[in-house]
Amino acid sequence: MNKKAIITSALPYSNGEIHLGHVASTYLPADVTTRFLKQNGVEAYYICASDDYGTPILIQSEKLKQTPQEYVAHWNKRDYEDFTAFDIGFDFFYKTSSEENISFVQDVFKKIEKNGHIYEKEIIQAFCTSCDKFLPDRFVKGTCPFCNAEDQYSDLCEKCGRIPEEIENPHCSICGETPVQKSTNHYFFKLKNFSEPLLEYLENAPYLQKDVKKYVENWIKEGLVDWDITRDIPWGVPIPIDGLKDKVFYGWFDNHLAYISSTLKFLNDKNIDGKSFWNDADIYHFIGKDIVYHHYLFLPAMRLGIEKEFKLPDYIPTRGHLTLEGKKISKSRNWYIGLKDFLEKFPADYLRFYLISINPYSQDDLNFDWEQFSTKINSELIGNLGNLVNRALGFTNKTFDGVVPEPEKFDEKDSESEQKIKSLAEDIGKLMEENHLDRALKQLMEFSAHFNQYFQHKEPWKKGPGTNACIYLSVNAVRSIAICLQSFLPKSSQKIWSQLGLDGNVSDVNWNEMSNLELKSGHKIGATEPIFSKIEQSVIDEEQSKLGN
Ligand code: MF3
Ligand code: ZN
Repeated sequence: MNKKAIITSALPYSNGEIHLGHVASTYLPADVTTRFLKQNGVEAYYICASDDYGTPILIQSEKLKQTPQEYVAHWNKRDYEDFTAFDIGFDFFYKTSSEENISFVQDVFKKIEKNGHIYEKEIIQAFCTSCDKFLPDRFVKGTCPFCNAEDQYSDLCEKCGRIPEEIENPHCSICGETPVQKSTNHYFFKLKNFSEPLLEYLENAPYLQKDVKKYVENWIKEGLVDWDITRDIPWGVPIPIDGLKDKVFYGWFDNHLAYISSTLKFLNDKNIDGKSFWNDADIYHFIGKDIVYHHYLFLPAMRLGIEKEFKLPDYIPTRGHLTLEGKKISKSRNWYIGLKDFLEKFPADYLRFYLISINPYSQDDLNFDWEQFSTKINSELIGNLGNLVNRALGFTNKTFDGVVPEPEKFDEKDSESEQKIKSLAEDIGKLMEENHLDRALKQLMEFSAHFNQYFQHKEPWKKGPGTNACIYLSVNAVRSIAICLQSFLPKSSQKIWSQLGLDGNVSDVNWNEMSNLELKSGHKIGATEPIFSKIEQSVIDEEQSKLGN
């Protein structure tokens, strides 16, 4: 394992609150991975920022009669608070509108230009006379020329995932009028120059998902189109050329560069040479499948355009979208759950447990289902894991005054259980390294289920021979669970740790420690109480009835 890592997740637009869809596909998997890497002694930093630019943000701020600066500052703060309430442990949360990002983006542009990858071209751009605005692609909707899907954004077809050069039957999405065509000078990035190096990059990146790579390679083979990186609006990173007014970079030119500029700012402030750290580290960019094009093509091409001054990504973990009770999430139809609202009703760890367990390392969509949520929490998290913790520690307190007893010689069942502890770190660690967080969590639940059965089988309450060994092994298994659970459910794992009578933060304990039987006879555990409480059906009914109303 590389001893350094930078982890990012897709930057949230400063344009609304974080909802369950956001956290399921990117922020939570990235957070769990970062915690796991840290537990393994990796110097890992989880870096994020708000994505502040773009026409939608400008228009929204105008509607609210705020400056765009005020508007994005509000969401930057609010999003960060919501993430924190969900125990998303960013090491640094910055913004694309930072001074550092602005000058970084401008420098990158100048280098790319010097390397011959930029050209200027007069283009005809949609202009809405009733709105008196140039309409960036996002604001022109129409029919996708590739797949004929209707009502698609002209900068991204959500049906086929491609980026049309020119949308058919265009109309203004603000007022519905057919835009007129007006000429304006734009800058283009020669994406075509990068077909070969991009293919080479993809071929030699062993940790990128195979299926995603395949269709990205097909896009390249079908022929890339050059990329218009200019917008005629006053909100964005100014194009560093004298005499330009109200011409800025397209948001997708500057936003992913904030992965780098925010990392540099954070590390340089810590007196670490940010650039060498970046180039020595494993680079992870967690994303949802809607932004594959940008992360597998634009982003690497731009890094290639500055001669790999900053390393290209090693991992781009790409996951599917979250649907809600089988339907597409939609704020306007109130088919939607905000993160903040959710966390006012349920502990963060319930949502973390549920979302990790239903989220495979693939682009398959996943579905949030209230009944399934409640079942997973009540019968798996509480019925299996919570039950084991309670039983093992409660029994030790009641029968042994909280002191771990001296085990008898192990019988076959004991040895089998001891073996499970000894192989846990490696078994689950392997799945974690392969990004299979769901399978790793499942395996931990199987470990817990095993110890429940073992406890049941040994019947320590009869106080027969072998009782001591059963308690000794069960309490040690609970310790293993606390360590393993740390990346998944940080709060609950810390509670278990304290109930075991152990000091300090479980997050400081090395991953491999979970496979040691560290609690010797004579160790005194702490006071115990249930870690979780059951979800009542009435609460679920109420939440379900809110949807769509
Ligand atoms: N804000 C974009 C979105 O929500 C994601 C930006 S990720 C970045 O789709 F890397 F490009 F910044
Ligand atoms: Zn209009």
